[in-house]
Amino acid sequence: MARTGKAVICRELNKPVVVETVTFDSPGRGEVMVRIGACGVCHSDLSATNGTLPMPPPLILGHEAAGEVIETGEDVAGLAPGDKVVSNWIYMCGKCRFCLTARPVLCTEQARALTTLPDGTLRTRDVAGKPLSIFSGCGVMAEYAVVSADNVIKIDPKVPLDRAALVGCAVTTGVGAVFNTARVEPGSTVAVFGCGGVGLNVIQGAAIAGAERIVAIDTMEAKLELAKKFGATDTVVAKPGEDVAKALKKLTAGGPDYAFECVGVGALAETAYRAIRRGGKAVVVGVAKAADSTSVRSMTLVFEEKTLTGSYFGSCVPRIDFPKMLHLYMAGKLKLDELITRRYSIDEAPQAFADLQAGVNARGVIVF
Ligand SMILES: NC(=O)c1ccc[n+]([C@@H]2O[C@H](COP(=O)([O-])OP(=O)(O)OC[C@H]3O[C@@H](n4cnc5c(N)ncnc54)[C@H](O)[C@@H]3O)[C@@H](O)[C@H]2O)c1
Ligand SMILES: [Zn+2]
Ligand SMILES: [Zn+2]
Repeated sequence: MARTGKAVICRELNKPVVVETVTFDSPGRGEVMVRIGACGVCHSDLSATNGTLPMPPPLILGHEAAGEVIETGEDVAGLAPGDKVVSNWIYMCGKCRFCLTARPVLCTEQARALTTLPDGTLRTRDVAGKPLSIFSGCGVMAEYAVVSADNVIKIDPKVPLDRAALVGCAVTTGVGAVFNTARVEPGSTVAVFGCGGVGLNVIQGAAIAGAERIVAIDTMEAKLELAKKFGATDTVVAKPGEDVAKALKKLTAGGPDYAFECVGVGALAETAYRAIRRGGKAVVVGVAKAADSTSVRSMTLVFEEKTLTGSYFGSCVPRIDFPKMLHLYMAGKLKLDELITRRYSIDEAPQAFADLQAGVNARGVIVF
């Protein structure tokens, strides 16, 4: 059954987001309709509104949500109305060599569901009847969403939806970068550039992995205070013109074993790489503008056996990693309550984006 509800939309690049009434058509074959309970506001949503991520407007934002399945289309196995789910913003074909080797974030078919459903169509229309694209096959910053059944993961219904939502991006991206991409060893030293929703999760992931020292770096003092609550043992305020790599080498007697860039600036990836000790790993998590680049001294790759790599969605397998993160939360090992600095109504979405831009929240969450 078609429904109408509010959605947060990017109508024009570099303009504030708008809240509009949208029609959500019934789910088609292999699709489900979800009533959204909560949706986190991620920097990647902001990046879509300023062109850093190329997803042309009009676009329904949102890729970090949790809700309840209220309708299923034909041929949907394993999901039924009433199930609680978290959105998954990567499309997994299940057949390509990457999907078959448990690396679905690299699925070769991913481009199929970048701003539409996997079959290239949409179930979302504005009041004039014009189709509205959906962020990463999700578009879940809305009262309802119609997505491919592969873009939702069933979860333990005991987890509150606002907490569960965060597993749909920030938590899995950050903790996954530590567990799956870098495989941080106990007793190691870790540096984290940028202590927003993603960076704080790298910090708590490193703490769970048993890192001995965790150095948090941010331009904002308030973020460093938060970082300590998530497990940072040391903090460095990044000041313009100061060489953080040098400061890190001094602080950690030769440089950290791992450095994570969680801001999205090419030059910072370079700083992270320079900072790590011989044999170290620099992991780029932040998404930089397309024209931005990173350069390293080639010789150091050889003589110091350093690694520079990226981490996409925490190199996760959603069906395995989402339940794993929620289990860690239920067991009291993963902090999700502390990640939510502020809850917003959908009408307050423009404020939520302004607050993200200003860097005032660990995570802002829109609750429905
Ligand atoms: N790899 C992935 O799959 C993936 C997934 C989600 C988000 N991201 C990206 O990760 C990045 C972080 O996302 P977020 O939601 O945590 O953003 P955020 O805005 O909440 O956090 C960014 C933090 O970086 C800090 N910062 C800014 N400039 C800095 C500098 N020069 N040095 C140190 N710190 C600095 C800010 O003060 C802020 O605390 C974004 O680029 C986002 O697009 C990547
Ligand atoms: Zn995100
Ligand atoms: Zn695939």
